[in-house]
Amino acid sequence: MISRLKGTDDILPPESHRWRRLLRAFDDLAQRYGYDLAVMPAIESTELFSRAVGETTDVVEKQMYTFEDRGGRSVTLRPEFTAGMVRAYIDSGAQGIVKLAAAGPQFRYEQPQKGRRRQFYQVDLEYLGEAAPGADAEVIEFSYRLLEMVGVDGIGLRLNSIGDASDRIAYRGLLQDYLRRHQSDLSEDSRRRIDSNPLRVLDSKADAEVVGDAPVPFDHLGAEAADHFSEVRSALDTLGIPFELDPRLVRGLDYYNRTVFEFYSSSFEAAQSSLGGGGRYDPLAELIGSRQAVPAVGVAMGCDRIVEAMAAVEVRRLNIYVVVADRDRTSDALRWVADLRGRGLKVDWDASTARSVKSQFKAANRSGADVVSIVGAEWSAGMVSMKVLGTGEESKVPVEEVEEWMKQR
Ligand code: HAM
Repeated sequence: MISRLKGTDDILPPESHRWRRLLRAFDDLAQRYGYDLAVMPAIESTELFSRAVGETTDVVEKQMYTFEDRGGRSVTLRPEFTAGMVRAYIDSGAQGIVKLAAAGPQFRYEQPQKGRRRQFYQVDLEYLGEAAPGADAEVIEFSYRLLEMVGVDGIGLRLNSIGDASDRIAYRGLLQDYLRRHQSDLSEDSRRRIDSNPLRVLDSKADAEVVGDAPVPFDHLGAEAADHFSEVRSALDTLGIPFELDPRLVRGLDYYNRTVFEFYSSSFEAAQSSLGGGGRYDPLAELIGSRQAVPAVGVAMGCDRIVEAMAAVEVRRLNIYVVVADRDRTSDALRWVADLRGRGLKVDWDASTARSVKSQFKAANRSGADVVSIVGAEWSAGMVSMKVLGTGEESKVPVEEVEEWMKQR
């Protein structure tokens, strides 16, 4: 028997009830906030990610599923949405503001553990073409509301600004000096990054003690980035979204500038505990070769982790289970099931149309339906029996009135 690959999951009921709730909440909220749906390729040219996410990031260096396709091109299964969304914005010739929402699997070759999968699922928002701090506040507020809406407790938000590239020129030198002075106490990964990507050393868990006194970008913001950040914070205050400033938060992808943030929850404790994260990424468009500047900000929430932080979801799977008591009525029952489904009710039946009434009732009990609707002798008089599964109470209802009867219950 062939088994599933390490780091991938089969998400089946009852766990998938929580997934459905999360994905629906995301879709509903995205529409309320004015985000249109984007359905994106799961495979892109490798260069898109190496240039956007950054050559020296863990994602590009160690985690991408990259291979040569049959045409000899280097292609990569997407490890994230953002680079592809900006590429799509530019490819489509869009101008100005475009707000997009996407959901789907991502692929990173990681050491699998709780909350760290090789195939994982993100819901993602990108607010493209807007430089103003209100956009940053909106994607943060959205993420907070989504977590609230699906019942995640103890939501925490870490927030920081890493400034603009121009602010970081002088700062980078200061940080490198500091790190070189403490080189012997740093982990090997961090030592390697002093030259290539010193900012990443700041959020290295292994080096938390050494970097505790390192200079942080927040103390070296230029005037514009500082103003921008103070407006983001003040909008969050206005919206009542609590946050903590975390001057060492830098995030693992290179395209960010200014605002960066991460969400966590007291209900999800793991080595990798971030439920979602994002930030502003004004430099990304130019990194992938666009001459058009595309200021933008976005967020990706990790569904696998959020689902673990959600309380179990009690679902009423079905409103009605149709039982065919009189085999001669099979065609009527078939039409009846289709009719009820067409009215928006959740309905199932025994599609084999061959089992005994007793075994149909067993299936009805297992199905989690509220009511059994029995198609039998009274059908010729335009009636069905409706039996409430919880109480056993049974009534005969005119077929035409069943929808109303269900509403009144
Ligand atoms: P990220 O921080 O790499 O950001 O991923 C966002 C979220 O995806 C994480 O907070 C986590 O919940 C989830 N995640 C990441 N890796 C894994 C994994 N191996 N297993 C399970 N869950 C995982 C991004 O991907 C950016 N594109 C976010 C963004 C959007 N920035 C701007 N716009």
